[in-house]
Amino acid sequence: MSHTNHADAHPIQGFDHFAALSDEQAEARITEARARLGQRVVLLAHHYQRESVFRHADLTGDSLKLARLAANTDADFLLFCGVHFMAEVADILSRPEQTVVLPDLAAGCSMADMADLEKVERCWDDLTNVLGHPDESITPVTYINSAADLKAFCGEHGGIVCTSTNAPKIIDWAFARREKVLFFPDQHLGRWTGYKKGIPLYQMAIWDPDLENGGLSAREIEQARILLWKGHCSVHQMFQPEHIRSWRAQHPDGFVISHPECSLDVCRESDYVGSTEFILQTVVDAPPNTRWLVGTELNLVSRLAEQVQPQGKNVKFMAPTVCMCSTMQRIDPQHLAWALENLANGAVLNPIRVPAQDANLARLALTRMLEAS
Ligand code: 13P
Ligand code: SF4
Repeated sequence: MSHTNHADAHPIQGFDHFAALSDEQAEARITEARARLGQRVVLLAHHYQRESVFRHADLTGDSLKLARLAANTDADFLLFCGVHFMAEVADILSRPEQTVVLPDLAAGCSMADMADLEKVERCWDDLTNVLGHPDESITPVTYINSAADLKAFCGEHGGIVCTSTNAPKIIDWAFARREKVLFFPDQHLGRWTGYKKGIPLYQMAIWDPDLENGGLSAREIEQARILLWKGHCSVHQMFQPEHIRSWRAQHPDGFVISHPECSLDVCRESDYVGSTEFILQTVVDAPPNTRWLVGTELNLVSRLAEQVQPQGKNVKFMAPTVCMCSTMQRIDPQHLAWALENLANGAVLNPIRVPAQDANLARLALTRMLEAS
């Protein structure tokens, strides 16, 4: 199947030309297309990307690092191997003449999808009924794992974005301005961050977006310091404190490191908690011959295990079952070859363009974050 890109009248090769390629064939086409594109394209990849994609990356990182890198590259095209919200952030922070491409538009984030603008606006209305003026008493804080219009909502209402790296600083920023925080969409990152700040659990109430007033009484809302949106990452909910306990029983000298999207109990039982970049750096910098149990996505853990194995370090995945991020997995060498080869032929597939009004307000919330962290 071939058809035409209306924007620039270049022929487009359909994905069916690429779907049947083996990984090796697709990778050869990636290398060839990249050589033709030269410096005009930069490949950014999140740590959860599969190895056959990750190895082609120019720039890698966690969400915060990738956002900063996207804001500082000169390439015409930013090819984003990650999920949709990350590509949106890259579009918002890059220059208008640059284009961000996501090789598969189905690469979303199921946690990000647990909050949407309609539900957040309804929540804000409910809070207005209880608190009077939420814009004076409550700071909306969105995890970067959220759609651009939710970041815009935060920009408009004096709020801010956070990532797994800077959440503690961002919560300080928020409390310095207003007495309460509405944290969405990940209850676990919000709870862990509040817990580390010494906020008692009874002052962190769960806001269920499908219930009136979030399922809370007026008194519970008034008493809460953080309202935690009822959202989660299903990958990180696979890790259980029991996994840590049975591993520690066998390896009492080992270290446990987890991502803050894990439950509070898992985080509490871990020696270290932090972003994907933090996890990598901590294990890479650790003394030789140490042993690690890691609670985050499997592609990252497998790559890390291989990388540090020559220093005698032993790295084990926390869950007994395989848990990968299925949406991150959508980006495969076939989709990457498809996007790159078309780009080299002059056809821009899957551009990510956040509408200007949302982009301006979302940039405000992101800039507050970058300045505060
Ligand atoms: P990081 O910002 O720590 O890479 O986390 C992103 C993410 O989606 C983790 O599930
Ligand atoms: Fe979203 Fe979870 Fe995948 Fe991270 S691991 S991108 S939070 S679904």
